[in-house]
Amino acid sequence: MAPQAEAEAQAQDSQDTAQIRVGDRTLDLPVIQGTEGEMAVDIGALRKETGYITMDPGFGNTGACRSAITFIDGEKGILRYRGYRIEDLAEQSTFLETAWLLIHGELPTKTELDDFVEDVTKHTMLNESFRKFMDALPRDAHPMPMCAATVGALTTFYQQPESEESIRQSIIRLIAKMPTIAAYAYKHSLGQPFIYPRNDFDYSSNLIHMMFATPCAPYEVDPVVAKAMDALFILHADHEQNCSTSTVRLVGSSMANLYASISAGISALWGSLHGGANQKVVEMFEAIERGGGDPEAYIARAKDPDDPTRLMGFGHRVYKNYDPRAKYLKEACRQVLDRLDVSDKLLEIAQGLEEITLRDPYFVDRKLYPNVDFYSGVIYRALGIPVDAFTVMFAIGRLPGWIAQWLEMRHDPDFRIGRPRQVYTGANERDYVGMDAR
Ligand code: SDX
Repeated sequence: MAPQAEAEAQAQDSQDTAQIRVGDRTLDLPVIQGTEGEMAVDIGALRKETGYITMDPGFGNTGACRSAITFIDGEKGILRYRGYRIEDLAEQSTFLETAWLLIHGELPTKTELDDFVEDVTKHTMLNESFRKFMDALPRDAHPMPMCAATVGALTTFYQQPESEESIRQSIIRLIAKMPTIAAYAYKHSLGQPFIYPRNDFDYSSNLIHMMFATPCAPYEVDPVVAKAMDALFILHADHEQNCSTSTVRLVGSSMANLYASISAGISALWGSLHGGANQKVVEMFEAIERGGGDPEAYIARAKDPDDPTRLMGFGHRVYKNYDPRAKYLKEACRQVLDRLDVSDKLLEIAQGLEEITLRDPYFVDRKLYPNVDFYSGVIYRALGIPVDAFTVMFAIGRLPGWIAQWLEMRHDPDFRIGRPRQVYTGANERDYVGMDAR
């Protein structure tokens, strides 16, 4: 049995049960144990047996599904895709190989990978109609809604009824066309002509070429930049049931197709508390630099309970230790800036800010550490990516994770449409009052 299948077979219902007492009822509920020892109480029978539901705003304590894709240990700062450490994948794999791993559950054979790369390479072009589609949008449109709208519009070009084969084609098209959409959005903002994808470039080099080449002169893609971009995509590729992934699952659970589900995920990722934070982090560093470079004033605002300011790139719902991606990116920042012979005051500000918070009880007591967004923006800047395209880079990286999670949801034996409950707190029944009596 393949290691993945063996691990899944071990994720069985535990022999334990949990007891819950509501009113005069005591209910024994089954306990589920994951392959890494995580325990959950299955409350599926709760409402039927007791009339009660549970309440958990933000779902901080609620498992939405069983999943075999990504494992996070927030206390130990561990992140693995299908059991493989992200540090090893970032160092030794490629983004497309990691995408295959996330979607199929095992590392590809050479033939599988070669065929996958060829399929993706040959589907990078967008229908020419998308030029008019994008041209209709304002020049200063943010690239995230442009990407969400374009991905949603892909449905109108590929309308065949949903089948295993049509889903396979949609996966290839989405992974292949996302960099083209991102590059076109950037060129649209510059008023420059779109640069077509090329089949002689690898995945990340193609994106860089489409973003920065012009028809006026040859453009040489720096292999250091391409390799750093590929590693960044790997580090962002999946992260279990985060906000945008849960959005993709929920939309897909209504039987909305993959393009519509991914479009919704892109919109959710744009939020400043989620993927949009990487843009806010660099804007925060720039504000600190404009203020003289001392982060103390900004940190004081972030700690003030009456001030909504947050230290962007800090804190995490799951990690109560250093986000392993941030740890990797902090080192990668230095390497990329050295290799490109780039110095960036913002990196010094980032390191200074981190040093202060690691000693500050406010952050230490709340276990607030740098997350994936804290250093990624500094690297994107060094690679020449415009700041409002940082979250688009996040979306390109997260796409295979969204796809893998969507497929797992659709193949889940417990599959049903997502439909949370509520506790009603509004007005009780009352009669309508005509205007003259109000
Ligand atoms: C991503 O879920 C994922 O996996 C997401 C992600 C992925 O790969 O998909 O990892 C990507 O979205 C990373 C997070 C990027 N967002 C930011 O960097 C924005 C800044 N961070 C915060 O807004 C916050 O930490 C969240 C949103 C990330 C987490 O919010 P939670 O879990 O709801 O935590 P909370 O708001 O309940 O905070 C707990 C306490 C509060 O203080 P008290 O009420 O206890 O006094 O910590 C404080 C918060 O005020 N706090 C912060 C803070 N984050 C939390 N205070 C200052 N600055 C911060 N950044």
